[in-house]
Amino acid sequence: MDKKADLKGRDFLKLLDFTTEEITYLLDLAAELKDKKKKGIPVDTLRGKNVALIFEKTSTRTRCAFEVAAHDLGMGTTYLDPAGSQIGKKESIADTARVLSGMFEGIEYRGFGQDIVEELAKYAKVPVWNGLTNEFHPTQMLADLLTVREHFGRLKGIRLAYMGDARYNMGNSLMVVCAKMGMHFTACTTEKYFPEAELVSRCREIAAWTGGSITLTEDVAAGTKDKDVIYTDVWVSMGEPDEIWEERIRELSPYQVNRAVMENAGEKAVFMHCLPAFHDLHTKIGAQMGERFGITEMEVTDQVFESGQSLVFEEAENRMHTIKAVMLATIGE
Ligand code: CP
Ligand code: NVA
Repeated sequence: MDKKADLKGRDFLKLLDFTTEEITYLLDLAAELKDKKKKGIPVDTLRGKNVALIFEKTSTRTRCAFEVAAHDLGMGTTYLDPAGSQIGKKESIADTARVLSGMFEGIEYRGFGQDIVEELAKYAKVPVWNGLTNEFHPTQMLADLLTVREHFGRLKGIRLAYMGDARYNMGNSLMVVCAKMGMHFTACTTEKYFPEAELVSRCREIAAWTGGSITLTEDVAAGTKDKDVIYTDVWVSMGEPDEIWEERIRELSPYQVNRAVMENAGEKAVFMHCLPAFHDLHTKIGAQMGERFGITEMEVTDQVFESGQSLVFEEAENRMHTIKAVMLATIGE
């Protein structure tokens, strides 16, 4: 694992802070750790260290990925749930950061504004990892890039269309990594849901250097034509009010990923989703929306989700290998 000291001590808050080479290094390290795990070769060089996992929003994948990865590396974990800590209520972020820095070698934070995780990192003396904020989801990005690279054998030149709410954590983050890795990003959604102009122009500047591109379009046929990856996410994110479901369903239904979209993208296209997904009525919210609006699926049809073109469970597994790489590289040995 060459160059492992390069990222030692670094925070992992958003991929705008990392170079193309650093991102590639983390992907290579994740691939190596994945290979070793499959072969039963232990990498537990962080034995005796501990990490704090702060979740102000719920999680399945991110929490499990951090816990399993930390355990594999030989570390202990402490999980702080949305209700079970003093953070923000009785204790400031700055004080929390300094308290946890005295006990742990790294801190994961999932919560609301990006400014909160940035503040935590400012005051912490150990690496801070962003486990999702309203604006960015960088650990998800490494898993997605690894999955695309495993499938297509490369990242540069890959054409990815994101459908749905492209101005939130997933749309923003995918646009950033596509720009960084020389990929072609298309936000295919109604104009209201385009990523904000400032981030778009920043990503266009990066893409100009890497050979990537950023396109925003409301046209489904043009936006999804001949794409390698069709990506979507839930229409209402964690922390948003229930009242907006009706509006989102009305405005984003034309951007549902269905068979017509996948056929337009082409035979070699794959479907990706960070999960969890509303592809049937087997969830409480899915069933409620089904009853209220007479629908059976939302951002993606069950047919596409369950098809051979769907890489969603490979993506989910890769959360663990990539998060392991981030912790190993930033804590250092
Ligand atoms: N994709 C993702 O972050 O999933 P969780 O919300 O379950 O962690
Ligand atoms: N946009 C979603 C992503 C979940 C992984 C949310 O923030 O809820």
